[in-house]
Amino acid sequence: MKTLIKNGTVVNATGTAVADVLIDGETIAAVLEPGSRLLGFDIEGNVDTVIDAAGKYVIPGGIDAHTHMEMPFGGTFASDTFETGTRAAAHGGTTSIVDFIVQYPDQNIIDQYNAWHEKAGGNCAIDYGFHQILSDVQESSLTAMDELIDEGVTSFKLFMAYKGVFLSDDGQILRAFQKGAQNGAMMMMHAENGAVIDVLVRQAIEAGNTSPYYHGLTRPWQAEEEATHRAIMIADLTGAPLYVVHVSAKQAVEQIAAARDRGLNVFGETCPQYLYLSLEEQLGAPGFEGAKWVCSTPLRSREEGHQNHMWHSLRTNDLQMVSTDHCPFCMKDQKEMGKGDFSKIPNGIGGVEHRMDLMYQGVVDGQISLARWVELTSTTPARMFGMYGKKGVIQPGADADVVIYDPNGHTSIGLGKTHHMNMDYSAYEGFEIDGHVDTVLSRGRVIVDGDEYLGRKGDGQYIKRGLTQYLS
Ligand code: URP
Ligand code: ZN
Ligand code: ZN
Repeated sequence: MKTLIKNGTVVNATGTAVADVLIDGETIAAVLEPGSRLLGFDIEGNVDTVIDAAGKYVIPGGIDAHTHMEMPFGGTFASDTFETGTRAAAHGGTTSIVDFIVQYPDQNIIDQYNAWHEKAGGNCAIDYGFHQILSDVQESSLTAMDELIDEGVTSFKLFMAYKGVFLSDDGQILRAFQKGAQNGAMMMMHAENGAVIDVLVRQAIEAGNTSPYYHGLTRPWQAEEEATHRAIMIADLTGAPLYVVHVSAKQAVEQIAAARDRGLNVFGETCPQYLYLSLEEQLGAPGFEGAKWVCSTPLRSREEGHQNHMWHSLRTNDLQMVSTDHCPFCMKDQKEMGKGDFSKIPNGIGGVEHRMDLMYQGVVDGQISLARWVELTSTTPARMFGMYGKKGVIQPGADADVVIYDPNGHTSIGLGKTHHMNMDYSAYEGFEIDGHVDTVLSRGRVIVDGDEYLGRKGDGQYIKRGLTQYLS
């Protein structure tokens, strides 16, 4: 099966050019001047399908490197399965995800790895890889890290918060980082001071401050900055590369920037919710509404300027990536568990379907360039997590994961069912995007055409990732 995408503006992280993209089977075969002939052959007359992309952008499929499909968390499960979540991702122009395998303290890591294959295998519409969560670092965890790297799980997330659930103490973090420094793993950190947060939460509840707004107030930026600094110090001590997930506080970014200025392999990810949403407007919504936006790290104060600082840091490369931290819960029966006690609201926001659009709006608004859009959402995720070459770029030899994006199209994120995620609301309800995902190809097959889904569950393949390709 051969496909020609003709006359589009190909956007890579390195820049843009009007070009034809020839796809042979699952792979990009050539990127050519429009109308070129190949060894004298008329290409257009010798392919099975021609897609005219004139006036549209042709970009490498989005890679969302932070998702939690069907995650057991907060007394319930994230509401998207691998099937529903990857289908929604496809609609939004994302063609690969990297999901987190969960290990709770008493669970065997390799069993969990196998369990995640069971859940995802045969169900995904797009390609998928895994990170591993380590919640209780023992000698056996360190051995498992080596084993998992051989299986393509080359990044490990630890937590400085959620005592008794995920939290690792500093000694455990040190041991895991020492292992990462040895075996080349990327160490990922949920950087919030859990002990401080736990006391603030208890005090708030005892004082009768139980609404979702207090979720934000009890996880202050100081707790994020302190933990980010501590994680950086442990990374420096051990020599392990460090990737700080879901950064929301400008002070935490400053810690990352300072470490990078010193030449350390320290990286930071933010998410659309920290660019667009805020403590005052969303978490502070009347009644229990704010529960929709309870996630950790929390939404930050717009008055304090965190959102602007996140955009700025994406331009200066003090932050390198945008993922969603897709962890959806419905209001009904899930978020509702925290009525009368915000600490019982399951933490997480869904957004896997909206990331490419929301970040494109950043291009329209003049926050980032077109090339940077692609770099933040596809190319750097591929390089950061050992997929580049196959993923994250439109070039010969790469997987034909391609999105045709219409800058003259429009996307309204409306109430309920204008999205495909398994959520009874959208965190971005009312957002209007000046662009539209028109066509999505996953390894050469059209899986979304207009708003029509043509994908098949089970067509997504496991991505056996290599080590990070992003170290300085
Ligand atoms: O609130 C969040 N972020 N939920 C998902 C789990 C995590 O910490 O990433
Ligand atoms: Zn986290
Ligand atoms: Zn997460």
